[in-house]
Amino acid sequence: MTGPAGPGRSGRPTLAVVGATGAIGTVMLQILSQRADVWGEIRLIASPRSAGRKLAVRGEEIEVLALTEEAFDGVDVALFDVPDEVAGRWAPVAAARGAVVVDNSGAFRMDPDVPLVVPEVNPHAVRTRPRGIVANPNCTTLSMIVALGALHAGFGLRELVVSSYQAVSGAGHAGVRTLREQLSLVAGTELGTSPGDVRRAVGDNTGPFPEPVALNVVPWAGSLREDGWSSEEMKVRDESRKILGLPTLPVAVTCVRVPVVTTHSLTVHARFENEVTVDRAREILATAPGVVLFDNPAAGEFPTPADVVGTDPTWVGRVRRALDDPTALELFVCGDNLRKGAALNTVQIAELVAVER
Ligand SMILES: NC(=O)c1ccc[n+]([C@@H]2O[C@H](COP(=O)([O-])OP(=O)(O)OC[C@H]3O[C@@H](n4cnc5c(N)ncnc54)[C@H](OP(=O)(O)O)[C@@H]3O)[C@@H](O)[C@H]2O)c1
Repeated sequence: MTGPAGPGRSGRPTLAVVGATGAIGTVMLQILSQRADVWGEIRLIASPRSAGRKLAVRGEEIEVLALTEEAFDGVDVALFDVPDEVAGRWAPVAAARGAVVVDNSGAFRMDPDVPLVVPEVNPHAVRTRPRGIVANPNCTTLSMIVALGALHAGFGLRELVVSSYQAVSGAGHAGVRTLREQLSLVAGTELGTSPGDVRRAVGDNTGPFPEPVALNVVPWAGSLREDGWSSEEMKVRDESRKILGLPTLPVAVTCVRVPVVTTHSLTVHARFENEVTVDRAREILATAPGVVLFDNPAAGEFPTPADVVGTDPTWVGRVRRALDDPTALELFVCGDNLRKGAALNTVQIAELVAVER
């Protein structure tokens, strides 16, 4: 028997976590163990490679099942944390068997029949899901959008200019492994002083990144799209527009990978309808659900990944009015890409679905 509902849980919805063994899946199980428990049975699913492994959730050891059609029997909500092509094939299968799918991959995000939901920004969208699938935004968009949604509600957003500083766990377990291996090769050396010395030390296998990521920054995330844009940059633009309901919002974005394990950071230049004040922006951010304003540079206080990792909110600091445009704000935003950037937002969406029942 796998994943019994347990005492006191009968009558509650059954949840499946597909991709339970991955970077996001691992954080998902921690979050499900920490939040108020609304679920009956929790079923864990991964590739046949992982079938039979046991993973802990809510203090119970549960055996991982291989992904099959039958694995979705009796499932009310299925969370998908698997590569795009696996989600593209299997999410419709789960939906056809009666589950509401909340998908973390990029397979359905821009499908007009699939809502793209951030519970603090557009919770109403979850109810219109003709395909039985709800999409979770990508981690870079999610790391800033809760703060931007609040500012948009207050000021009316007109334009975004964004640069990301993205953690390696955004590329899954393989990204983390690569950074750790490279760090062990460069630790205690004098590398980083002549062209190519870091590259020679870490070798040709740079994992999921096109360049060494230790002692480096890499202006690339994802795959090549038209005119030199990266897929990650297109996601930030397209997904921000969809979530905020601003289909023509001008968005300029450059995505950069940095040697941080977990927590994406972004600099944001946001232009609004009318003149803004820092005081009003700070009021909005200080009271927005899911946002922490941490902004006192005189005391050396601003968010950094080293402090934000492992926390749930979107952290905002360095709030300034643009020097040359009284309608624009400059911000520095940090969010844990595995928590709010992926697993937490997915669980929050699933909880919205659970209370519909
Ligand atoms: N990392 C992030 O910050 C982030 C943020 C937002 C969204 N996402 C998206 O979330 C998804 C998962 O990402 P991740 O970073 O967790 O990846 P990951 O660490 O590589 O984990 C992938 C998961 O998918 C499972 N899987 C792979 N192929 C499968 C197959 N053919 N059938 C069944 N299960 C299969 C793996 O199971 P095995 O262990 O058995 O191989 C594993 O559980 C991706 O679509 C990613 O783009 C990631």
